[in-house]
Amino acid sequence: MADRYAVIGNPVAHSKSPWIHAEFARQTGDAVEYGAIEAPLGGFAAAVGAFRAAGGRGLNVTLPFKQEAFRYCRDATARARAAAAVNTLSFAGEAVSGDNTDGAGLVTDLESNLGFAIAGRRVLLLGAGGAARGVVGPLLERAPAALAIANRTVARGEALAAAFRGVRATGFEGLAGESFDLVVNATSAGLEDRAPPLPPGIFAAGALAYDMVYGRETPFLRLARAAGAAARDGLGMLVEQAAESFLVWRGVRPRTAPVLEALRRG
Ligand code: ATR
Repeated sequence: MADRYAVIGNPVAHSKSPWIHAEFARQTGDAVEYGAIEAPLGGFAAAVGAFRAAGGRGLNVTLPFKQEAFRYCRDATARARAAAAVNTLSFAGEAVSGDNTDGAGLVTDLESNLGFAIAGRRVLLLGAGGAARGVVGPLLERAPAALAIANRTVARGEALAAAFRGVRATGFEGLAGESFDLVVNATSAGLEDRAPPLPPGIFAAGALAYDMVYGRETPFLRLARAAGAAARDGLGMLVEQAAESFLVWRGVRPRTAPVLEALRRG
């Protein structure tokens, strides 16, 4: 019988994770069945409980449950604790462990797929919510020259920055006169069809603008392109975090290039 996994979120109907994990399983020959669970807001723990009772082995957790997933697990990896957010749950009997593969997914996409070396570069992270939390630690580990967090609610950015050494937090207006080599958008401003209010000159010559949202040209990416920066969406991060979760569960890291290529072809 196949081992059962799923992605849990709300909404989850358009998630590409079931397709991605089916491709990984086909590649490695693992007997894996991967579904999608839409849990009602307030119904996360009950839905996870039902999945575990039915023999489920692991869950990917997406919006808006990543922080709740962190509270749910009894055991979390250092990178999940640093983020206070979990996107990968593993179940073995009574044991529940949590991990966060988002940051590794972003860093692998930037460095391996896009050829952007983070070391020594000036990095700006936009946002301080669940999407931003998971990537601060892994970005820092690549030794950027500077890492700044800009958030609309400055206190929230400051609280996130305070959990790490050498990270500065500011509001958007506090960025005036500065420029960065890499600007990562982890805000949900694009969902309102807006770009975060960035001052002119924010993109250094040769800068890369990266939006964690995938599948469309967001206002942030449009703005970046107009300012002469290279602009990339988050599809590669999605595939790389999935591969990292597969590794956590199955002990083998599938090849991502063919899966990413197929998704890009549509
Ligand atoms: P997620 O889990 O996707 O990060 P979240 O925790 O609700 O969701 O966080 C959303 C992020 O987008 C926050 O950083 C939010 O800023 P605030 O902390 O000030 O709320 C940011 N955000 C949402 N809409 C925005 C907008 N129109 N302009 C700038 N930032 C925005």
